[in-house]
Amino acid sequence: MSAAASPDSPPLRALVTGAAGGLGRAVALGLAQRGVAVAIVDIDRAAGEATRQDCAALGPDAVFLEIDLLAADAAERAVRATVERLGGLDILVNNAGYGTGEAFLEMTAATWDRTLGLNLRALALACAAAGRHMAAQGRGRIINVTSPASRMALPNYTAYAASKAGVDAVTRAGAAALAKHGVLVNSIAPGMMDTPMQRSTEALFARLDGRDDMAAYLAERTARIPLGRRTSCEEVAEGVVWLALDAPAYLTAERLNLSGGLDKD
Ligand SMILES: NC(=O)c1ccc[n+]([C@@H]2O[C@H](COP(=O)([O-])OP(=O)(O)OC[C@H]3O[C@@H](n4cnc5c(N)ncnc54)[C@H](O)[C@@H]3O)[C@@H](O)[C@H]2O)c1
Repeated sequence: MSAAASPDSPPLRALVTGAAGGLGRAVALGLAQRGVAVAIVDIDRAAGEATRQDCAALGPDAVFLEIDLLAADAAERAVRATVERLGGLDILVNNAGYGTGEAFLEMTAATWDRTLGLNLRALALACAAAGRHMAAQGRGRIINVTSPASRMALPNYTAYAASKAGVDAVTRAGAAALAKHGVLVNSIAPGMMDTPMQRSTEALFARLDGRDDMAAYLAERTARIPLGRRTSCEEVAEGVVWLALDAPAYLTAERLNLSGGLDKD
């Protein structure tokens, strides 16, 4: 049975974090394209409002919620505002993320706090806040954005890789906790997408690796991908939308590797 609304049922409602730009924006648009009303949560007001307008232009309701997910009560506020403004919540996409390159021996408390605060703590609290609402209604789908980094040995990306390993743990725990309430919790591990985060991180990696030939450096990294190319936000969003709307109702605690073969089970 799919989660997609039948022609007679009211539209589904989704909350997408970090949806002002990058993958989150592509996910919000992909869901709106399928008739899902979307709440866009982000700190970037101008870009978030632009995503909202582009989603609304596709037909369904769309709201922008300017919320800093690093705040302790952010998850609760985001879920409450989504339910109030869209009339309910059926889908949560925990997409917002932060990462920066930092040498292992030079790691800083500031990077750990920001990376784990957003990628892990905010994501876990959002799973719980949305999970409470979904458990009460007896259905819902949660998709957490993890990364191939969670299972790689990356000397200059420790806090990020650790945060995403934490996302995998939260996904398993959430799936186990919410299964009896009809709520599915899965994750997706995207390959390299050309977003502001990816560009700035790879520039730092190059510097830490002592490389100044950026084009050759990026080409070498691309050549390591078995499918031989990077992906796009739109291509990864297709995977998220599938998990949110089309994946079988028996699929939970799964990690969808959408990384061109970079990440393997
Ligand atoms: N880009 C890649 O190649 C790649 C690969 C694997 C996984 N990922 C993951 O995909 C997800 C999206 O990454 P992206 O590349 O689109 O990132 P991005 O930096 O392009 O977008 C992140 C969004 O999150 C928002 N944001 C940042 N801090 C916030 C906060 N405190 N509160 C609310 N919103 C906040 C930003 O304003 C931005 O709109 C992340 O979880 C990332 O770890 C990305």
